[in-house]
Amino acid sequence: MNILLIGFMGCGKTSLGEKLAEKMNFKFIDLDEIIVQSEQLSINEIFNVKGESYFRKLETDWLSNFEGENFVVSLGGGTPCFNDNMKIINSIGTSVYLQLNSESLTDRLVHSKQKRPLIESFKNDKAKLTLEIDKLLKRREVFYNKANIIFEVSNMSSSKLDYLIGLVV
Ligand code: S3P
Repeated sequence: MNILLIGFMGCGKTSLGEKLAEKMNFKFIDLDEIIVQSEQLSINEIFNVKGESYFRKLETDWLSNFEGENFVVSLGGGTPCFNDNMKIINSIGTSVYLQLNSESLTDRLVHSKQKRPLIESFKNDKAKLTLEIDKLLKRREVFYNKANIIFEVSNMSSSKLDYLIGLVV
């Protein structure tokens, strides 16, 4: 079985995915990281130089060609929302939407050092960032809600992670 983690930027897909994989003795992959390695460019550079639709195609191509068992895969925040990717995601394994409200997401993202092309220009204005996150989250939840499991991730702890493992296995 495979587990695919989806959710908005900043919800903790990568850090939670690594912990989940370790606890379950599964292999861990982060799709953004794979794309960065294969393109030899940062996500920001890919968006700026090659464009968002090129990036979206890379995500779908990778999902379409995925083969493997016992993986925890952290996807990008936008991966489920393009090219009917939720269908592919749900055919690969159990999808888990890591849900966090827009206030908590904003608090995390405003302090994040990671460059995320979709929100970079709003980061120095918290009010604008809040509005942007709220708007984007509303649009994206339609896709995220197609996950097999919806799991709220505020106040994560080791026992809450064990509870999630109980839900997926
Ligand atoms: C994106 C999220 C990012 C990355 C890219 C686009 C998005 O991943 O794939 O910047 O569209 O939400 P994270 O969710 O890991 O930040």
